[in-house]
Amino acid sequence: MTVLKNDRYLKALLREPVDMTPIWMMRQAGRYLPEYKATRALAGDFMSLCRNAELACEVTLQPLRRYELDAAILFSDILTIPDAMGLGLSFGAGEGPKFAYPVDSQRAVQNLPIPDPEDELQYVMNAVRVIRRELKGDVPLIGFSGSPWTLATYMVEGGSSKSFTKIKKMLYSEPHLLHQLLDKLAESVILYLNAQIKAGSQAVMIFDTWGGVLGHREYKDFSLQYMHKIVANLVRENEGRKVPVTLFTKGGGGWLEAIAATGCDAVGLDWTVNLSEAKRRIGNKVALQGNLDPSVLYASPEYIKMEVKKILSDFGQGSGHIFNLGHGIHQDVPVQNPKILVDAVHQYSKAYHQQ
Ligand code: CP3
Repeated sequence: MTVLKNDRYLKALLREPVDMTPIWMMRQAGRYLPEYKATRALAGDFMSLCRNAELACEVTLQPLRRYELDAAILFSDILTIPDAMGLGLSFGAGEGPKFAYPVDSQRAVQNLPIPDPEDELQYVMNAVRVIRRELKGDVPLIGFSGSPWTLATYMVEGGSSKSFTKIKKMLYSEPHLLHQLLDKLAESVILYLNAQIKAGSQAVMIFDTWGGVLGHREYKDFSLQYMHKIVANLVRENEGRKVPVTLFTKGGGGWLEAIAATGCDAVGLDWTVNLSEAKRRIGNKVALQGNLDPSVLYASPEYIKMEVKKILSDFGQGSGHIFNLGHGIHQDVPVQNPKILVDAVHQYSKAYHQQ
């Protein structure tokens, strides 16, 4: 078993006793950090940063130098899989992602290859290996992927979307075609996450950022079903330790029981859910991750601390809570505010972990 200096995050995911509540922040490496912007400028564009293992490692470690975070997350993106499938991903300056070849026909779905993680996506595995080496066992490394549904939204829409009209048109007019696409994506994600685990990721998380735009029946058929299949096919042990899996559906508050029943170890929550209610509904089966509104990081130190106290008290006594934001950190938050947050979580949570 690898000896970790700080394994609070892994222990909380398995609901084992901890001394304080662990915290990490979704999108913790990014543009709110001036040092991130400098490294990204060095790399050129965003995908070149992802493809350079040393620089990807550098930006992964940057937030850990400033804040006492309990986990590192691989610096990469969920869109690496569609890129490796040949869709031609680019990020224009100040814009979201764009695909040169969106998936718009049966032929396009049929022609999609399933990427080999140690070939087209080897740069991601190389980043995992370099980050593990440089972390030197300080904190665990989280690997990740998008959910098949969330990846499909970008692939069919050709980029980010507000209304999801193209993919919803496919869902309601050609459901079999969408299922074919989701099947291929689920298979690709299984290979991708298992390769990340083999390369050294000590926990994995699936981001279902757009599951919440689906109707309640459609969520189960077009998103949850495929995440369930992924969870069932992951190699969940490595280096003599369990590799926990977290599922996060933004806007998934109505489906917590169903998400918890997939066999995942933890459910990620956005800020629209009350942690105490979530715990009552599913908390003795899985761990809970969340759920501060990322916009609270614009508030005063006093306000941030007050929100931390409320969330800790919502979860209450004992292990099984991983503090996090309810979604990614905003790019213009003052850099001193995450420190207030992280230190407050550690300080105020001690009282909830006395045996
Ligand atoms: O959490 C981390 O620190 C690890 C890195 C990470 C990134 N993207 C880096 C990134 C992770 C975990 C992601 C996941 C991701 N990517 C999601 C799911 C989580 C979520 O936030 O909902 C999604 C939907 C994407 C797709 C994506 N990538 C979009 C829509 C964008 C553009 C939006 C934006 O903020 O500009 C990206 C680009 C991206 N991914 C950036 C970063 C740091 C910004 C790129 C830059 O430096 O310009």
